[in-house]
Amino acid sequence: MRPVSILITSIGELVTNAPADGDRQRGDGQQGAGPFASVADAAVVIEAGRIAWTGPAARAPAADEVIDAAGRAVLPGFVDSHAHLVFAGERGGEFAARMAGLPYQAGGIRATVAATRAATDDQLRANLRKLAAEMVSQGTTTFECKSGYGLTVRDEARSVALAAEFTPEVTYLGAHVVPAEYEHDPGGYVDLVRGPMLAACAPRARWVDVFCERGAFGRDEAAAVLAAGTAAGLQPRVHANQLGPGPGVRLAVESGAASADHCTHLDGADIDALASSATVATLLPGVEFSTRQPYPDARRLLGAGVTVAIATDCNPGSCFTSSMPLCIALAVREMRMTTQEAVWAATAGGARALRRADVGHLGVGARADLIMLDAPSHAYLAYRPGVPLIAAVWQAGGLAAT
Ligand code: NIG
Ligand code: FE
Repeated sequence: MRPVSILITSIGELVTNAPADGDRQRGDGQQGAGPFASVADAAVVIEAGRIAWTGPAARAPAADEVIDAAGRAVLPGFVDSHAHLVFAGERGGEFAARMAGLPYQAGGIRATVAATRAATDDQLRANLRKLAAEMVSQGTTTFECKSGYGLTVRDEARSVALAAEFTPEVTYLGAHVVPAEYEHDPGGYVDLVRGPMLAACAPRARWVDVFCERGAFGRDEAAAVLAAGTAAGLQPRVHANQLGPGPGVRLAVESGAASADHCTHLDGADIDALASSATVATLLPGVEFSTRQPYPDARRLLGAGVTVAIATDCNPGSCFTSSMPLCIALAVREMRMTTQEAVWAATAGGARALRRADVGHLGVGARADLIMLDAPSHAYLAYRPGVPLIAAVWQAGGLAAT
């Protein structure tokens, strides 16, 4: 029997990020923006969980079910390529202290580690479920989820197992910080991370990540963890150059990482390295908002031709938002990205950072992950900051939120 087809029609603006539509609609003159592309007065047909057709509404084929978008915009679902959702406890007091003038300190991670170790699986799962539901209701249809608040073999293994219940994009981040019990033996902790802890986590993870930063892991330690992860079948990604200049971005490029994340403090050599590589620069503007740091220089990255993604970094310390629309608004207002660049970075850019060809765009054959805005164009995501504009969300063709 033929699967039921769904036609969404009378779409004011259909953002497809599909190159053929880009030829028609692009013309923004920006370099490195990625092929943002859209069709006006459009329609889309979904069949068997995939995009079957897109184009002008006037030429849309018939379908079993018809949904009238009444002039509203339809976009690919957001791809949040960086999040830390397996944790217990909260650090609202730390945030309040920062807003009163104290700096962000990565050492706060240890407070979350203590709470996470003390939590039951069910408590961690309930928190994860709540945050994942928050994400979907704000238009995120694919998300990555890291371990990194367990930091023992048992607690990292259960963190990746819990994450795998909610997403295929699971990242092993045993190298988040050196836990208190290894304070005087950081080398011993690196050996644990690239040895027994990796062996326990690798079967359920796709990615290996490391926080390469002063106060966390240095270049050689980070390189050793990434090499061991790669040998175990994981693909690398790196927390790089968040709190100051350092070797993280170049290490990410040299390791063939899918993504260098944060990129807040870059020099010319970092930008050249990214521009001549396939490593995506994943910018996390919610972190700068929540830590009062300077924002990354997105214009310089885009001008150099670097592929840029935007993600939330949702975590209880440096940035506790699950909202991709907020991050888009910050990227536009604070990092001077165009609305087109920001939406591309939050969809197709995130897909590149996760090396996913099936999401982040609405080309024929893509997964039918779509969002409808209560607004006529993608620009409203930044034009109406803080307003809940997500009218409906489809995941693999099924209605996930309204
Ligand atoms: O990506 N930088 C390292 N890890 C997180 C922060 C974690 C925390 O403060 O709990 C980040 O910002
Ligand atoms: Fe992070």
